[in-house]
Amino acid sequence: MVAKVVPVDSFDLVVFGATGDLSRRKLIPALYRRMADGQIPDTARIIGAARSDMDVQAFRNMAAEALDRFVPPEELDQSIRDRFLSCIDYLALDVTKEAGWADLRSLLSDDGRPCAYYLSVAPRFFGVIADGIRKAGLVNDMTRIVVEKPLGRDLASAQELNNQLSQCFSEQKIYRIDHYLGKETVQNLMALRFANALFEPLWNARYIDHVQITAAEKVGIEGRGPYYDNVGAMRDMVQNHLLQLLCLTAMEPPSHFAPDAVRDEKLKVLRALEPLTDPADIVRGQYRKDSIGGSYLEEAENPDSRTESFVALKAGISNWRWSGVPFYLRTGKRLRSRVSEIAIRFKDIPHSIFSGPQTATKPNILAIRLQPDEGITLSMTVKDPGQGGMRLTDTDLDMSFAESLTHSGARLPDAYERLVMDVIRGDQTLFMRGDEVEAAWAWIDPIIQANSSIRPVQYDSGSSGPEDALMLLHRDGRRWREISA
Ligand code: BG6
Repeated sequence: MVAKVVPVDSFDLVVFGATGDLSRRKLIPALYRRMADGQIPDTARIIGAARSDMDVQAFRNMAAEALDRFVPPEELDQSIRDRFLSCIDYLALDVTKEAGWADLRSLLSDDGRPCAYYLSVAPRFFGVIADGIRKAGLVNDMTRIVVEKPLGRDLASAQELNNQLSQCFSEQKIYRIDHYLGKETVQNLMALRFANALFEPLWNARYIDHVQITAAEKVGIEGRGPYYDNVGAMRDMVQNHLLQLLCLTAMEPPSHFAPDAVRDEKLKVLRALEPLTDPADIVRGQYRKDSIGGSYLEEAENPDSRTESFVALKAGISNWRWSGVPFYLRTGKRLRSRVSEIAIRFKDIPHSIFSGPQTATKPNILAIRLQPDEGITLSMTVKDPGQGGMRLTDTDLDMSFAESLTHSGARLPDAYERLVMDVIRGDQTLFMRGDEVEAAWAWIDPIIQANSSIRPVQYDSGSSGPEDALMLLHRDGRRWREISA
């Protein structure tokens, strides 16, 4: 059964930095797909704003190229493509100058429709653009402003950024994207927890032994060397994506699925994170050279770099639900496979009634797989079929979303599709609030300060990370799950 589509009302979306990579790779394809799904009316307007001095036709050509490159041919329909391109406008605008803002104002619709400003630009322009929008008199009840990481590089800069934005916009108008929250399986984690009676009673320190959150990537830092070297995995992945996953896994049930109800609960988790003071609980690594490419140091163009391309750490949450349950987080580049998942490892059964050959039991693991093969598996111990006597084996209850979608004729949307439409609809539930971002930095800052001058350990490309990361769990009598696609 194909889902019922509810189109949004007309809107204007202004994309600053519209000629950049994010816009071409993610935003334009996401908007096209939602138009193809019938969610975006032909009267919607997508206005690219960038410094390049091009005309509307040149920008439409660029958008057309982006569609041809980033949307699979089987999803491209010529007439929808034409309709989509005709919604596009362009304004050459140097945001640091006063001159162009009046031109922007005159391009916008004046029928009271929502107007979203997507700041797909370097963060140093956030304040300037916010100010430009305000001074041009463009802030009203229907205004939304969208920003994306890096949202600061420490607590102080994140606070400064929040201040800059809040001088121009109320918090209800600010949409801070963490694209992991737009991933279908991440939303499914909330459905799994709060739309089923089965798991929530077990979702605590009494029944859960530990949690593993992994975001492993096969790619290296590639063309982003000098940028990445200034950031590292702790800022690039842990401060945002991994902590957001931890929050959704650990938060209390919100009273309803609404922006502040959800974000209040996530904030409580961030504030309950125990300070990570024991150096043994943190492993930082850098990949070595291999047959696929150079070492981290070569790609970062910095032979003395102490920036990490891998992090594993053991976090704890000080509250009744989670006291004593470690949350092991792990992320890295150039690892064996691209795998992101949250694995909940339940405790062993208190007593086994079975004895004899092949009667060992294994603990249940609930794995929520973000990518690839989005889905949920629950490992169970069952009777080994066909074997004489009571012999046990383990098997997975497996729910692959990709498979069930194939049967229903639907497709798995990209995170940006969901997030951009939520901006238009004015739903902030899947966006981070300013205080959440600050709380995440408040926890990460001391970790970065204590470790940034320490040389990370080396690991082989194509491995599952440094030996020390394995030891992080071994010493607790535990093991990481395999990184395998
Ligand atoms: C980005 C990071 O936020 O997330 C990148 O800056 C990383 O370094 C990317 O590669 C991973 O996202 P995904 O959706 O491919 O897991």
